[in-house]
Amino acid sequence: MDRKCILVTGGAGYIGSHTAVELIAAGYDVVIVDNLSNSDPSAVEGVRRITGAEVPFVEADCCDDGAMERLFRSRRFDAVIHFAAAKAVGESVSEPLRYYRNNLLSLLGVAGQMERHGCDRIVFSSSCTVYGEADELPVTERTPRRPAASPYGNTKQICEDILRDATAARPALRAIALRYFNPIGAHPSGLIGELPRGVPQNLVPYVTQTAAGLRECLSVFGDDYPTPDGSCIRDYIDIVDLARAHVAAVRRLLEGAAAAPFEVFNIGTGRGVSVLELIRCFEQTNRLKLAWRIAPRRAGDITAIWADPSLARTELGWQAERSLADSLATAWQWQQRLGSGTK
Ligand code: UFG
Repeated sequence: MDRKCILVTGGAGYIGSHTAVELIAAGYDVVIVDNLSNSDPSAVEGVRRITGAEVPFVEADCCDDGAMERLFRSRRFDAVIHFAAAKAVGESVSEPLRYYRNNLLSLLGVAGQMERHGCDRIVFSSSCTVYGEADELPVTERTPRRPAASPYGNTKQICEDILRDATAARPALRAIALRYFNPIGAHPSGLIGELPRGVPQNLVPYVTQTAAGLRECLSVFGDDYPTPDGSCIRDYIDIVDLARAHVAAVRRLLEGAAAAPFEVFNIGTGRGVSVLELIRCFEQTNRLKLAWRIAPRRAGDITAIWADPSLARTELGWQAERSLADSLATAWQWQQRLGSGTK
């Protein structure tokens, strides 16, 4: 059989490593490129152990044109999934130039090599952050994008625009942007998961580190939002479900099934969950008590967002299958495996 080879940039990261596993399970060859700036080679080892595949790993920066040229010359890629990017919202506000340089140049570098080497299928890691605080919920792909609230969010919008314009200019090129909601959980094998550096900024790693005794107490940022219990609402999507959405997107591109040169899909569950609901579910699922307190609102947080994922269901044949409890169980299992190691 003619096996297709997928280049996964940022494949040592949280979403990239889980996606590599699902691609291999679906019969694709995978090459991972990652500069390890916010990831760990142990994730690549985890992918190899789960799949039993060799999984070539290239340590390189997607902004390094020379390294990308060598990589694309080394073998033919049928498609690219481009994850490699910096992703901390707060950090992007204090270091905007680094965020713009890194996130834009890495996409431009990869897309340039694709053009030079005749690779014309790309899946891009976008975010529901492009919707900002939407007027109507759930958000569909037709919900207007809002001016970005952070340089990070702006890089996601600009990268979507770059791909839209590039597909318009080059007829063979096809791109899909997946707008993720909030990815959580870990691989059920316990071999890969999220490895936050320093104090976690995101809710679930903070919850698991608090439960493990690494943090004293979780701060719930605000209980005076106009939601049923006063805390913010998000759409938490299991990491394995999210990874499988990428396989569905790659398949659509390689089968020539895309309805337009550039497509976007929401990747969420369709269910909004409040911070307090998530805490309760974590406690019940894992049979423990979490130390938490109400704290002031966090600057930049929106009140509520959740997806209408029906386009992904009808067009990609994908839908979320794992429950919030499933994800919170694997997240806790992963934290216990890490022990006091927080990387
Ligand atoms: N939260 C807390 N305490 C914490 C951390 C988070 O109460 O210690 C709350 C937040 O206020 C928010 C919810 O938990 O209501 C989720 O917060 P996260 O930081 O986990 O996720 P965000 O929704 O803020 O951000 C995520 C991604 C971003 C992306 C954004 C788009 O991390 O990359 O969604 O909305 F840009």
